[in-house]
Amino acid sequence: MVAKWYTTNTGKSLDEFTTLAQRVANELPAGTRVLEVAPGPGYFCIELAKLGSFSITGLDISYTFVEIARKKASEGGVSVDFRQGNASSMPFADNTFDFLVCRAAFKNFGKPVGALQEMCRVLKPGSQGMIIDLRKDAPMELINRLVDGMGLNAVNKALTKLTFRTMLLKNAYTKEQFRYMLSQANFRSVDIREADLGFEISTTKQSHHEPAPLRCDHRANQQIDDTERRQGRDRAVNRMRSERRPSSRAPDYDRQRRGHP
Ligand SMILES: C[S@@+](CC[C@H](N)C(=O)[O-])C[C@H]1O[C@@H](n2cnc3c(N)ncnc32)[C@H](O)[C@@H]1O
Repeated sequence: MVAKWYTTNTGKSLDEFTTLAQRVANELPAGTRVLEVAPGPGYFCIELAKLGSFSITGLDISYTFVEIARKKASEGGVSVDFRQGNASSMPFADNTFDFLVCRAAFKNFGKPVGALQEMCRVLKPGSQGMIIDLRKDAPMELINRLVDGMGLNAVNKALTKLTFRTMLLKNAYTKEQFRYMLSQANFRSVDIREADLGFEISTTKQSHHEPAPLRCDHRANQQIDDTERRQGRDRAVNRMRSERRPSSRAPDYDRQRRGHP
């Protein structure tokens, strides 16, 4: 029921998926192997498939969403391999994909660090992953304004706002949390940009010939602006100090999502 509700409501903002698909398609050569992690109804994959001869796979944990996405791809006359599976335990061999996208889903993952590690594993060396998600500090006034512009009826509008307030913002991450989790996967570089309500994270898997990946997020600060770099450096130094203590207080986000303190 939730899957059907989501499919109908997001289908009203199809422009967003078309615009993203166009942006991505412009950057990808023909034949590129693309993975969308958690595609839900599959709108992005389907729009991308209309724009070029890419080999596109979507992996979602929900059987209902997989069924809906397959049906929509067939109605749209495009070929996308929609499969059921978990982001933190993907049924793909190492180094399979040239590009990966994960939109509006990361905050829902039960093992976020495990999911990042899997994303990195299935990407080919030197390939790029894009994660788009809500940021924890997204202002509720802006959320309300955007939801008002989504073309929903009064009930769905109220329900969507309630979902943002009570669930989505609660599960969302801050930029610092993202940077920390990414430092626990094998990615080489991380660029986190703030958009209206969220982040667009662009991250690249280390190539074979490159030095060992970054382990502390003070290196990720190379990507951000000077002010943030200064603040980030202080935080990173403090964090590294605390990580060196025997009782490390480094957060374990996978454990926390499973309800442990
Ligand atoms: C809000 S929907 C987003 C769908 C789509 N990416 C979009 O932009 O419309 C979140 C999706 O994440 C999927 N999901 C949640 N946890 C997952 C996991 N561990 N592995 C794979 N998919 C997951 C859900 O089934 C759902 O389809």
